[in-house]
Amino acid sequence: MVCGIVGVTTDEGFSQEPLGKIIKEALKKLEYRGYDSVGLAIVTNEGSLEIRKSRGMIDFVSRKLGFDSISGISGVGHTRWATHGRPSDENAHPHTDCSRRIAVVHNGIIENYKKLKEFLINEGHSFTSDTDTEVIPHLIESFKRKGYSTYEAFKKTIELLEGAYALAMIDLDEPEKIFFARKMSPLIVGLGNRSNFVASDIVAFIDYTRRVIVLTDGEIGYVTPSKVVIEKMIRKEGVITWVPIDIKSRIRSVEWSPEMASKEGYDFFMIKEIHEQPYALASTLSAVGESINEIARVLTRSERVLLLGAGTSYHATLITALLLRRYANLWAEAVIASESRWWLNALGQGDVVIGVSQSGETIDTLRGIREAKERGALTIAVTNVIESTIAREADMAVYIRAGPEIGVAATKTFTSQVALLSYLAVKTGELRGVLKPSLANEIYSALRETPNVVARILKDEEKKASVLADKMSVKNNAYYLGRGLGLPIAMEGALKMKEIAYVHAEAYPAGESKHGPIALVEKDFPVVFVILSKDEEELIKSNIEEMKARGAYAILVSPNNAEEALSLADFKFILPVQHEVASAVSYVIPLQLLAYYTAVKKGLDPDKPRNLAKTVTVF
Ligand code: AGP
Repeated sequence: MVCGIVGVTTDEGFSQEPLGKIIKEALKKLEYRGYDSVGLAIVTNEGSLEIRKSRGMIDFVSRKLGFDSISGISGVGHTRWATHGRPSDENAHPHTDCSRRIAVVHNGIIENYKKLKEFLINEGHSFTSDTDTEVIPHLIESFKRKGYSTYEAFKKTIELLEGAYALAMIDLDEPEKIFFARKMSPLIVGLGNRSNFVASDIVAFIDYTRRVIVLTDGEIGYVTPSKVVIEKMIRKEGVITWVPIDIKSRIRSVEWSPEMASKEGYDFFMIKEIHEQPYALASTLSAVGESINEIARVLTRSERVLLLGAGTSYHATLITALLLRRYANLWAEAVIASESRWWLNALGQGDVVIGVSQSGETIDTLRGIREAKERGALTIAVTNVIESTIAREADMAVYIRAGPEIGVAATKTFTSQVALLSYLAVKTGELRGVLKPSLANEIYSALRETPNVVARILKDEEKKASVLADKMSVKNNAYYLGRGLGLPIAMEGALKMKEIAYVHAEAYPAGESKHGPIALVEKDFPVVFVILSKDEEELIKSNIEEMKARGAYAILVSPNNAEEALSLADFKFILPVQHEVASAVSYVIPLQLLAYYTAVKKGLDPDKPRNLAKTVTVF
């Protein structure tokens, strides 16, 4: 469901590189989505269809099957993350029709494939895989046999599919065309020079173009090297009509450069992205302006605010809800998106629901936004990806502008989310007359300082994090404790440690730890405490003492003025004193670094943690 797809069509003279190599490189940019198999299909210069695919990682499969040496004019490629059918050479994409003249790559799930397969088998088609996808080329073949042109057969096929899909298809009969369709899985058209592209993500073709069309659900079409055709399927009372789309009005230019989407000498994307945080924050904060003030005005008029997010984005919503309650006296609650239906039935007109999602595609958050809309609440998207599904479907959208994030573990998008949403909460408090303008201004300037503070923390704490990682890399468990704004930071630190270093790290409110979790603590058990301001010192001191009395190894993330708490710690990250709202942005940095170095010391790949994908479009 988080497979990656790529399609490229080129004119003579487009590139010196063989097309197989170009598609392989594009697929490598989609590796972050997670995959178990890889494959491609290319229309060669000689007019044949070359299909090569296998289970395994891209570099290995490419070497084995010689991707780099395949020349051609058009082709499709795929990274597969198994859903229907185990990971195997046969189930790898592309899939073909009986004549092997049509090749399809697919991201998504065709829910009615069993019925369609049965029908096709009765028609005489033979299948070579266990996938749901394989019905698609056979259906196209079936319609073509009945006299339809390739595009008409493709459309007829799409009309029959139930479920989710981003598709790219080539047909030897019309070799210069890449056909595509999208429903509930992301797909983007890239407009190049003597070439055009389709892909699951802009990063796949960013070396060639930044001019894109983000497809929306129900759109279908094809590209040739010089032409783009898009139509939208409208289904009304069982009757389907296809409406042509005006291409010009849909073209957008993305700001990301190819360098921003590559590793630039860092060992992993994650560490590159950790180091990009000063720039990402500066970019986020420089874009704060009328659009976010407008959202603050909307919040001042609202009855209640519900914030939805998953994983790291949920942690950003926790901080926002705390700030809206504390600084704007507004009823605000953060809810894990997949649990939101248990809250949304109590909401309606007058309420606001904010969906926070880096990718803008997380299905749990999207479903929450859809349901909130149906109930009459006003919906707002906060995301990093322009025209992502959540951004398009919400009533209002605001972008965090952190730049592309490739590492599966969210880092720079978290700090950018927190900075933007903190500004929003404080602005709302100011507009509601709860916060004095002088205090609001003090917080705005502390937030504006965060790019510099984060740069300093990175410089001062990286070595220390790497030293502490030696100790963490041999541990199986850890607690992360905090109070107030420190708790979501502890939760985020624990999530990072779990997902990339596979250490069972659990976060708790520090005051709650003595009501059960402390039972696990024994000699040398690592406990990370997060304090954002001196105000929390007194209370957390006793929690540190309780843990140390049981033999815990106390690690403290703290401002440098919490001297007494610091004197109790076995290992300390001593950070600059800031307003607590700004510390909620910057104090996560040592915890990101700690997780990263622990993973690296364990010999793990932090960019591609097992069982995880960057964008989660399954429930
Ligand atoms: C973050 O490190 C995780 N990989 C994951 O929890 C992520 O934050 C979550 O899946 C939500 O993604 P989104 O922000 O794109 O909606």
